[in-house]
Amino acid sequence: MDNTNYRCFAPCPRGLEALLQQELGALGATDLRQTEGGVGFSGGLAAVYRANLESRIASRILLEVAHVPYRTEQDIYVAASALSWPQWFTPARTIKVKTSAQHCPLKSIDFVTLRIKDAICDTFTKQKGTRPSVNSNRPDIRIDAFLDATHLTLYLGTTGDSLFKRGFRESTVEAPLRENLAAGIVQLTGWNGTTLLLDPLCGGGTIALEAAMLARKIAPGLGRRFAFELFSNFDPALWRTVQAQAQAKQLPSSPVPIYASDRDAHAVQAAKDQFMRAGVASDIALTQTDLFDLTPPQEPGIIVMNPPYGVRLSTQADLDVFYPKLGSWLKTRCVGWRVYLFTGDLRAPKLIGLAPTKRTPLFNGAIECRLYEFLIVQGGARRRLTPPAQA
Ligand SMILES: C[S@@+](CC[C@H](N)C(=O)[O-])C[C@H]1O[C@@H](n2cnc3c(N)ncnc32)[C@H](O)[C@@H]1O
Repeated sequence: MDNTNYRCFAPCPRGLEALLQQELGALGATDLRQTEGGVGFSGGLAAVYRANLESRIASRILLEVAHVPYRTEQDIYVAASALSWPQWFTPARTIKVKTSAQHCPLKSIDFVTLRIKDAICDTFTKQKGTRPSVNSNRPDIRIDAFLDATHLTLYLGTTGDSLFKRGFRESTVEAPLRENLAAGIVQLTGWNGTTLLLDPLCGGGTIALEAAMLARKIAPGLGRRFAFELFSNFDPALWRTVQAQAQAKQLPSSPVPIYASDRDAHAVQAAKDQFMRAGVASDIALTQTDLFDLTPPQEPGIIVMNPPYGVRLSTQADLDVFYPKLGSWLKTRCVGWRVYLFTGDLRAPKLIGLAPTKRTPLFNGAIECRLYEFLIVQGGARRRLTPPAQA
């Protein structure tokens, strides 16, 4: 049995680092350290398996295999050659090396990538007489290199396909949110599955789906495969235990109703298919409705929505018309509701005509966005005086 305490790094959408730190801590990771775009942590194999299986926020779980100073490409080759790659995987596995850099003084990042790949292959040839081949599209094993001004860090990817690829999304809709960003948005609202949740602009249903999985405590990685299953130190018994522990936490149904709607028939069909595949269709009341024809349920809860925004879907002129209408709809039909609006259009509050009680900066890829909170009271929105119940 492998009792090593590994150092790992979990990247995530920028703005969700604090949530991810909390989440990884709850999953048994230790020595947690936030940086921009991710969280470093330590843990044994069980923590690595659990983070892959249960994290809703992380994009990947990377296992650190080297952190060394460098000055030249040759230093990088020597550092990568010093590692015992054949201890991790066999030459029958395909590989891909990906390098990212910040303030790196070297001329070509592509050349660094090539030198690391050469170092791995040369090590295999020396020790095993054969070397792994490269597969740039669907490698079995991904090696990530990160260079700052002075240090090289090498990581082995334990995840395989990114964690936000839950495996439920098949048809494409316009501008779907990444699943881990949607999960982060739901958690940033403080929603804990005890009040109604409505997404009236649901598109492919990502927000409602992540909410349902959160409410039912369904581990997002159940039913998919991970790169760590191909590692030489893979422990199938430990993996079965970690999966069984996650399954034991699941609730048979959501404790509260979740509502989702969109005016677009194709989006509603895509959402329906996703909900079915994820096994949460009975937890989500899904309809094809135009938001402006919709009256939310009487008992107030929270509205979480991701309207179209200029960069991705609509023109600014469309939004100049949409947002004031949305403002009137909120003020007239959503009194008593707490509303969260995720958008890259920073003019939204002004156009809606409501003062946000909170604004949280978040990144959707490279696009700087905000999650705005509005408390809708009779006659408009009010600044929050007391915090809402937290998860
Ligand atoms: C940015 S997309 C939402 C994407 C969604 N969050 C996802 O992850 O798939 C915005 C959605 O708003 C919907 N929409 C725009 N205007 C609408 C309206 N008046 N009523 C209902 N849906 C509307 C569009 O059809 C589109 O699906």
